Amino acid sequence: MINFDKIIDRSNRGARKIDYPISKGESIDTIQMWIADMDFETAPCVKDALKDLVEYGVFGYTDYNNKYFDSMINWFDKRYNFEIKSEEIVRTPGVIFALAMAVKAFSKENESVLIFNPEYVAFREVTDLNNRKIIESNLKLENNRYYIDFDDVEKKIKENDVKILMFCSPFNPCGRVWNKEELIKLAKICVDNKVIIVSDEIHMDFVWGENRHIIFLDALKDDKELYEKAKKLTIINTSASKTFNLAGLQVANTIIKDKTLKEKLEAEIGKTGYHRISGPAQVALMAAYTEEGYSWACELKKYIYNNILFVKDYIEKNIPKINVIETEGTYLMWLDFRKYGLNDDELQKKLIYGAKVHLDNGLKFGTLGNGFMRMNVAMSKKSIEKSLIRIKEVFN
Ligand SMILES: Cc1ncc(COP(=O)(O)O)c(C=O)c1O
Repeated sequence: MINFDKIIDRSNRGARKIDYPISKGESIDTIQMWIADMDFETAPCVKDALKDLVEYGVFGYTDYNNKYFDSMINWFDKRYNFEIKSEEIVRTPGVIFALAMAVKAFSKENESVLIFNPEYVAFREVTDLNNRKIIESNLKLENNRYYIDFDDVEKKIKENDVKILMFCSPFNPCGRVWNKEELIKLAKICVDNKVIIVSDEIHMDFVWGENRHIIFLDALKDDKELYEKAKKLTIINTSASKTFNLAGLQVANTIIKDKTLKEKLEAEIGKTGYHRISGPAQVALMAAYTEEGYSWACELKKYIYNNILFVKDYIEKNIPKINVIETEGTYLMWLDFRKYGLNDDELQKKLIYGAKVHLDNGLKFGTLGNGFMRMNVAMSKKSIEKSLIRIKEVFN
């Protein structure tokens, strides 16, 4: 049995989640529930593989190639019934890097990239920093869930000659797991308007209850024509880093089924001088994408889902002015504090310096995040309980 209740002291280990806010003056006993990594140890099989590598002690240039690709192929086949071939995989040091490369490869300066509002912050950054125009389509909040405004997406794509649509599935920060119909609608719009689709599926293993993650292209497989057309435009970004807490090791995989598209992305990556992912990162991924890794991930998911239910229940009963948006996927909960009528600065200060709980400020994810906070619940239940008691005391 894995003990996810164990509290690990992450301070003074370079953990961005802990050490960075402290360096900015936050009290050391602030509960850090921001940035999307987990406070848990990775799977024992990953630790063992890395220990073995350290024991071996040679860290030269490393390419596991076939062994690595087989781990990927096997994982996607078994877990998602999704067939990939080794020649469809591009290894990168991270999904954000891959997103930036896609922006550069498939659009020119001043051309438009469409993202949602709210949306994961790095989408905005990689677009803006590469001098592309950000076009936003607002998500609609209805019945406590967020929805895509497809008419608006299509209108904005046409009006702005959008070259790339970049989105994440499952959705960070609002917790939606886009369903088949929604993915098909997006695909149709992109195919009709020849827009490149950059689907960031880094949170794919975290879906809750009846929800199922559908890989973007997999959603289209019943419509052969649509599938074939969309395949020529689609880039799927994946990583073991969220599921196995490996972000510090830097490894991600982009899946591109179209050869021309893949070569374009690889050419852009080639220009950076980056050409080989770290050996330890490859070892970690191969150990993670195994039966042992899968069993561990199942236990982890049970624990996190229980945390999600606990937070929802606690807030509903004890801090009812906060509205918890339905969490269909990810370990990030989207909390609506708007009933308190506080401005962004007041809300942040009240949480960080009053309650001593650091959540991600909703505004970071776009203007529609104003009044919302994102809570990372991939941590021990005890710490979560403590954070909720603190929030209750300060906000009630
Ligand atoms: C949707 C999404 N994409 C990408 C990333 C970061 O990926 P990486 O660390 O591989 O660059 C995150 C991390 O929070 C994320 O939530």
